[in-house]
Amino acid sequence: MRIASVSDLHTDHPANRELVVSIAAEIHRRGADLVIVAGDVSHRDDRIERVIRAFLEVADRVAYLPGNHDLWSVDAKVEEGPKPDTWLRYREHLRTLVEGVGGHYLPGAPLRMGSLGIVGSTGWYDYSFAPSWIQERDSSLRFEDRRFGPVVWSDRRYISFLRADGTLMTDPEVARVMEDELASELAVMDADPQIEEVLVVTHVQPFDEVVYHTGRLPWEYFTAFMGSRRLGEIILSSPKVRTAIHGHSHVLRSEVIAGRRVYGTALGYPRERRGVALEEVLRTRIGWVELATGGS
Ligand SMILES: [Fe+2]
Ligand SMILES: [Fe+2]
Repeated sequence: MRIASVSDLHTDHPANRELVVSIAAEIHRRGADLVIVAGDVSHRDDRIERVIRAFLEVADRVAYLPGNHDLWSVDAKVEEGPKPDTWLRYREHLRTLVEGVGGHYLPGAPLRMGSLGIVGSTGWYDYSFAPSWIQERDSSLRFEDRRFGPVVWSDRRYISFLRADGTLMTDPEVARVMEDELASELAVMDADPQIEEVLVVTHVQPFDEVVYHTGRLPWEYFTAFMGSRRLGEIILSSPKVRTAIHGHSHVLRSEVIAGRRVYGTALGYPRERRGVALEEVLRTRIGWVELATGGS
């Protein structure tokens, strides 16, 4: 079985919409049983649908999970009035949308392909990847503010995960819910004798080893929003996990962590790829997993 993965297609950019056509053609050329989309397509429903349809033309199955960008409610700025609950978009709206066009919505349920289980959660960030020297250097910097001077982390405006009483959840609280959901799905896979191998998909990054650090501000401030350490601990606690795919960071990463292959192949924004030829994009922005087992 052969699996292709992509992330951070950000198809609000016309250049990226064109590249999705080229990426789909490349996946068709090499052949894939499954395409995984690890989040950050667009906040627009029609663009998410279009991407899933494009990959369903070149592979039998498409598994998708939303990135933080896909969860944005851009019509109702969180700072300016009533808050739409992001949990509704995550749990219901996007699931209906994705299943409606024939895709598999990973946060809704794991995907089983023979003896392979594919488990996914968007995950969230809890500031655990930010180096501790940031607040030692400037105690006024608070990650809860989600801004560094004039530079605002956009989720602050467009994301509002709500508690049952309608109040806003903190980022670490959201991260714990996402992590716990992943942990219970992995426990089901571990207990299932039919499942020999598990592939985990998250949008945020689960290991500090794949977070890109520059050692300088303001970059390091924003590493707070790259993912959570506990997500990685949960992935490593499952003996069947061999591969963990992530998105979110637009810096290409690939590591082997405790025997697991961990990587992200984000397409990212056009300005981040200046000077990168199409062949290079197609070679580096699609991840491939080949499995001897699994069946289909
Ligand atoms: Fe992204
Ligand atoms: Fe993201």
